[in-house]
Amino acid sequence: MADEPLVLGIETSCDETGVGIVRGHTLLADAVASSVDEHARFGGVVPEVASRAHLEAMVPTIQRALKDAGVAASDLDGIAVTAGPGLAGALLVGVSAAKAYAYALGKPLYGVNHLASHICVDQLEHGPLPEPTMALLVSGGHSSLLLAPDITADVRPLGSTIDDAAGEAFDKIARVLNLGFPGGPVIDRIAREGDPDAIAFPRGLTGPRDAAYDFSFSGLKTAVARWIEAKRAAGEEVPIADVSASFQEAVVDVLTRKAVRACKDEGVEHLMIGGGVAANSRLRAMAERRCEDAGLTLRVPRPKLCTDNGAMVAALGAEMVARGRSASAWDLSADSSLPVTDPHVPAPTGHTHSHSHSHSHSHDHVHELSRKNLYA
Ligand code: KG4
Ligand code: ZN
Repeated sequence: MADEPLVLGIETSCDETGVGIVRGHTLLADAVASSVDEHARFGGVVPEVASRAHLEAMVPTIQRALKDAGVAASDLDGIAVTAGPGLAGALLVGVSAAKAYAYALGKPLYGVNHLASHICVDQLEHGPLPEPTMALLVSGGHSSLLLAPDITADVRPLGSTIDDAAGEAFDKIARVLNLGFPGGPVIDRIAREGDPDAIAFPRGLTGPRDAAYDFSFSGLKTAVARWIEAKRAAGEEVPIADVSASFQEAVVDVLTRKAVRACKDEGVEHLMIGGGVAANSRLRAMAERRCEDAGLTLRVPRPKLCTDNGAMVAALGAEMVARGRSASAWDLSADSSLPVTDPHVPAPTGHTHSHSHSHSHSHDHVHELSRKNLYA
């Protein structure tokens, strides 16, 4: 619908320079430039390399997104950007670009939360997010269970990893097995040839006295590494497919068990799974089965929307506009540890102007602010 907000979203929290454009719940463009290859030889993301790559990719990626969407920058109702959490230097590139475009175009700026964006992106795939939704977010940087009664204003953390993120565990085990980086997709593929019950690896934090919704993958990682070392020390061949499948099974078993339990405990009927690890085929299959058994509806966006991208930021930005949430101030800063309880970073209360996504209003906003900055 033409009256739905048209928003451009910028994501630079890690190694993907993502620029997405959405109209309401409709995806119009999803341009991503990744520096993942530049990090591969280090076995993980190098922050300085990522920042530099964002700087180089930013303008071309924005231009590509506008071209793909077939819209002019002047048609936009707002510019959204990941304000955090993420790598400070990387975030800064996106925030600076978003400010420059918003200011130059006279559009409201929305600094939004990376985690809330990972949840909101599902609107582009499955339509309006049910309220409340339980979200299991699993990626290289985060593993959390979040209850979202309102994705624009109310996101509550129920639990998170106390050590490694789920994706990090995949990456580290892939490294031990010499499978390259990132490890998740390779392990996913190789595990299909293996037996998930071949080796009984530990399920972290699943004891009766353990925190019900927290995760721990570092014990599992150590157990798998030791098992591999023992095989090698004995001069035996490491059964890579069985190790991959058994390791993956341990991760996926814990993730789905805790997510379903959180839904039951909180009386929530909808579970969404997002983040890079949500691309995992075994996670999808097990979540489907367990949700069906528990009478829950499961929503998992397609893999391209699960990994970091700009469309998710645009999706949340559009929702902010649609629900009349206030825009961010021009002094919005990147916050590498932005709490998940802040789906966006509104201008401090007491700011003299309100925002709407109408064109004229956003122009007033720019002018008022520049006056304020000049005379403050
Ligand atoms: O969301 P994402 O692109 O970036 C972060 O915010 O971290 O997630 C990347 C992570 C990496 O750790 C990668 O190994 C993992 O997601 N991943 C997977 C799969 N695809 C990506 N893990 C398991 N199975 C997959 N198919
Ligand atoms: Zn992410």
